[in-house]
Amino acid sequence: MREKLQKIREEALCALTGAKGAAELEELRVKYLGKKGELTAILKQMGGLSAEERPKMGALANEVRSAIEESLAEAKEAAQRLALEAKLEAEALDVTIPGEKPELGHKHPMYIALDEMKDIFIGMGFEVLEGPEIEESVYNFDRLNTDEGHPARDWGDTFYFTEDSTLLLRTQTSGMQVHAMETHELPIRIVAPGRVFRKDEVDATHSPMFHQIEGLVIDKGVTMADLKGTLNTVIEGLYGKGTKTRFRPHHFPFTEPSCEVDVQCHECGGVGCRVCKGEGWIELLGAGMVHPKVLKMSGIDPEVYSGWAFGFGLERLAMRRFNISDMRLIFENDVRFLKQF
Ligand code: PHE
Repeated sequence: MREKLQKIREEALCALTGAKGAAELEELRVKYLGKKGELTAILKQMGGLSAEERPKMGALANEVRSAIEESLAEAKEAAQRLALEAKLEAEALDVTIPGEKPELGHKHPMYIALDEMKDIFIGMGFEVLEGPEIEESVYNFDRLNTDEGHPARDWGDTFYFTEDSTLLLRTQTSGMQVHAMETHELPIRIVAPGRVFRKDEVDATHSPMFHQIEGLVIDKGVTMADLKGTLNTVIEGLYGKGTKTRFRPHHFPFTEPSCEVDVQCHECGGVGCRVCKGEGWIELLGAGMVHPKVLKMSGIDPEVYSGWAFGFGLERLAMRRFNISDMRLIFENDVRFLKQF
């Protein structure tokens, strides 16, 4: 029995040293120490021993058991350590590899131009307003002195929502003049940028959706000279000092007198070229002194107060600001185009 025990110890210890992994170790534990294991089998035979031999063999068996247990524990620990090392190696992170920079976007060129313009107006004490794109015809037309039957109200030009033509996609930001007169105390000094919609065919200078920025000033003693001075300051702020402008007589139902303002062509310097269609000038905005009837309809006494208003086309403004030749580029959102700004 002594030899058998020694042999179990030797075999077990040898097997444990060669074992790989937790599963194999568990197999060996069952084989040697389990209920049906080799050591247990020997212990079962102890009954046949003499009273003298029994305690000796008992002690030896215990010794073998603890030797195997100890070696098993060591082997388990070693296996765990190895497994951890392998895991760490597999998951190793090389912090010296250069990272991938996420590409940051930037503002759309039209909004760059708009923000520059807002800054100029804010610097002059204007408030920036926003208003509805779905508008009542009362604000878009009636209270801007554009009565029933005016060509601007034509179904062929305007996106109406209702058969009775009371609700529409606004065709201009000028309705914001009326909103401002309703909501603001006098004096008024506001600008209001936003989208407008017209049934226009798409070409290099037209789109059924475009942007305007409306302006309105109402106070005592406001004149056309203030309008010219303010617009020239804004245009020089955007396009550089000494930029030449031209104020041409025009007609709008809600201003009297009215004008359109052109800026000298950046491409040819006024001689006439493809960009300005031979004119030497590029139209930027409509403007004028607020019509007395418009003031009256909003409860303002035209004998006491006067005012002026303007409406810039933002796409044209950005096109001139960044030398963009085709309005469609502004809406197509091709990153190769947008990246340049
Ligand atoms: N609303 C006009 C347009 O869309 C522009 C304008 C605004 C003209 C304010 C005069 C005053 O053409």
